Amino acid sequence: MSPPQDIAGGISNLARQVSNSLSLSTSPTLQFNSPPSSFRQPPGGFRDGHAGSVPVSSNASQLAKQLKPFDTKDIKVLLLENVNEAGLSILSKQGYQVEALKSSLPEDQLIEKIRDVHVIGIRSKTKLTDRVLKEAKNLIVIGCFCIGTNQVDLQTAAQQGIAVFNSPFSNSRSVAELVIAEIIVLARELSDRSMELHNGTWNKVSKGCWEIRGKTLGIVGYGHIGSQLSVLAESMGMGVIYYDVLTMMGLGTARQVASLDDLLEQADFVSLHVPETSETKKLIGTKELAKMKKGSYLINNARGTVVDIPALIEASRSGKLAGAAIDVFPHEPAGNGDYFNNELNSWTKDLVSLKNIILTPHIGGSTEEAQSAIGIEVSTALVRYVNEGTTLGAVNMPEVNLRSLTLDESNCMRVIYIHKNVPGVLRQVNSILLHHNIDKQMSDSRGDVAYLMADISDVKEAEIRDLFQSLEELSSCIRTRVLYG
Ligand SMILES: NC(=O)c1ccc[n+]([C@@H]2O[C@H](COP(=O)([O-])OP(=O)(O)OC[C@H]3O[C@@H](n4cnc5c(N)ncnc54)[C@H](O)[C@@H]3O)[C@@H](O)[C@H]2O)c1
Repeated sequence: MSPPQDIAGGISNLARQVSNSLSLSTSPTLQFNSPPSSFRQPPGGFRDGHAGSVPVSSNASQLAKQLKPFDTKDIKVLLLENVNEAGLSILSKQGYQVEALKSSLPEDQLIEKIRDVHVIGIRSKTKLTDRVLKEAKNLIVIGCFCIGTNQVDLQTAAQQGIAVFNSPFSNSRSVAELVIAEIIVLARELSDRSMELHNGTWNKVSKGCWEIRGKTLGIVGYGHIGSQLSVLAESMGMGVIYYDVLTMMGLGTARQVASLDDLLEQADFVSLHVPETSETKKLIGTKELAKMKKGSYLINNARGTVVDIPALIEASRSGKLAGAAIDVFPHEPAGNGDYFNNELNSWTKDLVSLKNIILTPHIGGSTEEAQSAIGIEVSTALVRYVNEGTTLGAVNMPEVNLRSLTLDESNCMRVIYIHKNVPGVLRQVNSILLHHNIDKQMSDSRGDVAYLMADISDVKEAEIRDLFQSLEELSSCIRTRVLYG
């Protein structure tokens, strides 16, 4: 196996001209460790079953050629908000210069720092606004080490050719396990008994306390979390029904029902796992609660807007609901502290006074395993984007991927051309690449922005600068990157 070829002669000059594109290596590095496209979490998890383990390599990856975007030591990565160690380690092992800070930064300090970096990793507190992104001249990619991406101006990022990645499903298992715990805690009124004993009251009761075996769980939204929950609940002896807007194959013996009303009428426990959309706003209100069985339980770990809380308070007071667990709220504090009061949500005092109500501060996905899985997934996506240009999983760019180059392909160049989505671009790009064999090419668009990736062979090193500059001069150009292998 030969190491990647470096581009010799006059390269520093060339590299300076294309530094904004992070394109070319300024020095050979035998340690260069670009992961092939197969470097990603395998469907079955990691080799020893632990989220922090090294991903398993496949035969294909051994044959895949390592592309070389630049001297990896030149890549500056800024990680804010205490990004998980597993993620940090993946980036450091690439040879990138990684600076990791425990907190977010005030906007002015962020602007100072972001001018210099190529990759930024954030969690939910750092706001990458239009103003901040306009200063981020070298930035090529943002990793949100969390579920949401509301903290990033996604459109501005795309228009500047900056891809954004997140990790939407790494914590599904954590949420599903929490729901199982809540079902048992509600059925046995555990939180009330515990609170009573904390206050010195011995209250041994069995009335209104139940086993969960043989009870029916109704899952609303049978996606990543709902389907995990389905398997766990069945293994504990529950019968599972589910309602989803899509027709889906049930796992185990779980059965899909035709309507939400069907589910509400049959379930002893109703657990919500739908996204926040205009259709799911107050999906469960007075009318839906009335349909539920008397003495049933409601669990919401989805989004705060999905349940009409004043209606839930009424249903709990009337005895219609025997209990509820709520992890998400219409308004949630930005940080930890004494903020859960009527100023935050006008009904808080009424809610906290109810019996058999579990209230948790949006911790459904908050486990060490989920944080580690998020770190691995986002860092891996960042590395693949930086080293190979792959946008699979990006939230603001079209998803484009090409199979890896193989070791027997030499003098190859991968062109990444992020451009305005206007007519005629493909023709212009291909007329620039005309004198080379285009081995493979893919282009896709999302809104105003399009992403083109092409592998061309038999490229002499001396030709790269011209190709790069010709592409940069096109009026449609947002950003050009060139990877060489
Ligand atoms: N509490 C937490 O910490 C936490 C953590 C992770 C996710 N979540 C939330 O959990 C929810 C589910 O997450 P997921 O990863 O399973 O999502 P998902 O996208 O995998 O699944 C959602 C499912 O809901 C279905 N759906 C959409 N609209 C519906 C409707 N009106 N009625 C019935 N079904 C509908 C979809 O078809 C899909 O199957 C999301 O709201 C997410 O934000 C909360």
